[in-house]
Formats: sequence, structure tokens, C-alpha cells
Amino acid sequence: MARPSPARPADLNPDRSLATIEVNGITKTYRTRTGAVNALAEVDCTIKRGEFVSLLGPSGCGKSTLLRIMAGLSSSSSGSVIIDGNPVIRPQTQLGIVFQSPVLLEWRDTLGNVMLQAEARGIDRRVALETANRLVKQVGLAGFERKRPSELSGGMQQRVAICRALLHDPDIVLMDEPFGALDALTRDQMNVDLQHLWAQGEKTVVFVTHSIPEAVFLSDRVLVMSPSPGRIDLGLRIDLERPRRLATRDSPQFAAYCSQIRNAFTKRGVLREEPLA
Ligand SMILES: Nc1ncnc2c1ncn2[C@@H]1O[C@H](COP(=O)(O)OP(=O)(O)O)[C@@H](O)[C@H]1O
Ligand SMILES: [Mg+2]
Repeated sequence: MARPSPARPADLNPDRSLATIEVNGITKTYRTRTGAVNALAEVDCTIKRGEFVSLLGPSGCGKSTLLRIMAGLSSSSSGSVIIDGNPVIRPQTQLGIVFQSPVLLEWRDTLGNVMLQAEARGIDRRVALETANRLVKQVGLAGFERKRPSELSGGMQQRVAICRALLHDPDIVLMDEPFGALDALTRDQMNVDLQHLWAQGEKTVVFVTHSIPEAVFLSDRVLVMSPSPGRIDLGLRIDLERPRRLATRDSPQFAAYCSQIRNAFTKRGVLREEPLA
């Protein structure tokens, strides 16, 4: 059986000259009423231009915190994030961001929600509407342009949120567990569709998930985070041919990547075989 090659340090921090996002020694401590919460401990990673990279880790390990710091939506306690050579010191409006919940306006239809992005940025309405219509078709929502969010399924609502995040054609898209609330079948379909969408552009994607198969299916590289306080301690290049198909999940190579990651989690006590005493 073909086995993936062992993780190499270069899979954690590839050649920095090709970096679009550099994360250098990021730590984050939240001050709360009940004391300090160490959310991130010395996170280092490099994301190359055009890569699809997943941040994979257990709940509470600091994935959302790290993504928010990359986006300039939260400050770090120490360390730096550099995007395209510029230190992140304020919200990065050039990015596309998709959150776990689609956050749609109930009184607006599909196109109206996608167009929010154009209104917020002052993009020419006619040009934006053309792009919005194209994106809506690309994600399989043709015929649903005039539906309100309450008339759409959870998966469709998340597709609307993805279109909104892509409307201004960002080079970098940050996605925080965008499919976490979806049923398993819809999630599989969203994975397939997202892969095709990504293949059409030249976008860098940082994708947060706690699903091992989702991370392996989508990614060029999976960065595995330790339990809280989070740090990235394994980088795994996923050398599976693209486009990956649903059946790719049945392949021995796919299973080998998943088990390599699962073993890393077992070693750290995130997963265990035995019941608690
Ligand atoms: N605004 C906040 N104030 C205080 N603690 C927070 C805040 N946001 C997150 N945390 C804590 O930081 C840790 C990491 O949280 P988070 O980044 O949301 O993890 P993940 O996204 O991996 O589930 C958790 O212990 C969480 O309780
Ligand atoms: Mg989170």
C-alpha cells in the first residue's frame, strides 16, 4: 500500500520567499474576569500563494483566534502576521472571510445578500451584479436568486455566504469551519464544490476545520494544532491527485493520511481508544 511520506519540517514552514501569509511566533492570552486564558502559544506557519491549507485541531485549540488574528480582527499578545509583505495591524479588508454561521440578512434575497459586499466597498453596482449572478450560478444556486434565507437550506445559505466573500475577487480567503453546521451529505457535496471553485481561481485559502477527512480531502497541506494553548506541531503535505473525487476517500492513500493525523491526535491525548476510568 502506498504510504504518505513522513512529515518534514519544510511542510510546516515552506520557502518563505513564496509566502503570502507569514505567521511568526504568535501568542494570544485572553484576559477574562476569571483569569488569563492562554489560547495560542508560539504559532509559526507559512502559507504559500495559491495554496489550500487547513488548520485542523480540536475544539478550543485556538483555530478561530488564529484566523481572526490573521484577518486583523483580533490583536495578538506577541508575534506578527505578515500578509504580502505588510504587517497585519488593522482589519484586512482585501480578504474574503466565511464564518461558521452564514450571517445573512433575513429581509434580503440571495443576490441582495451577496451584493452587501459591493455596497460595503462601493463597487460599481452593475459590474458587481454581473459577478454576483455568475458566482451564484457557479455554486449551484441558479433559480434561487430571489429567495430569502429562510427559503434556503443550511447548505444553500452557506453558499450565499461564500459568494458574498468572493464578490470582490479576493486573493486570500479565510474560512472558519464554514461547513460545521451542515449534515454529513451536504458537507461532502460542499467539499467537492469548494474544491472546484478553488481550482477555477488562483486563490490562497486558509480553511479551519476539526474534521480530519475534510482537511485531507480539500488541502494541499494540513497544519495540525495541539490542544490548548494551541500551536502548530505537524505540517502534512497531501499529495493526492486533483480533482479529488468522493471515491478518493476510499483510497488507501487517503486512509493513510487520515490515520497519520489521527495518530498525532492520539499521541496528544485528543483522541483515545479506552473509556475514561
Ligand atoms: N473573546 C474571548 N475571551 C476569552 N476567551 C476566549 C475568547 N475567544 C476565545 N477564547 C478562548 O480561547 C480558546 C481558543 O478559542 P477558539 O479560538 O475559539 O478555539 P477554536 O476555534 O479552536 O474552537 C478557548 O479556550 C476559548 O474559550
Ligand atoms: Mg472556532
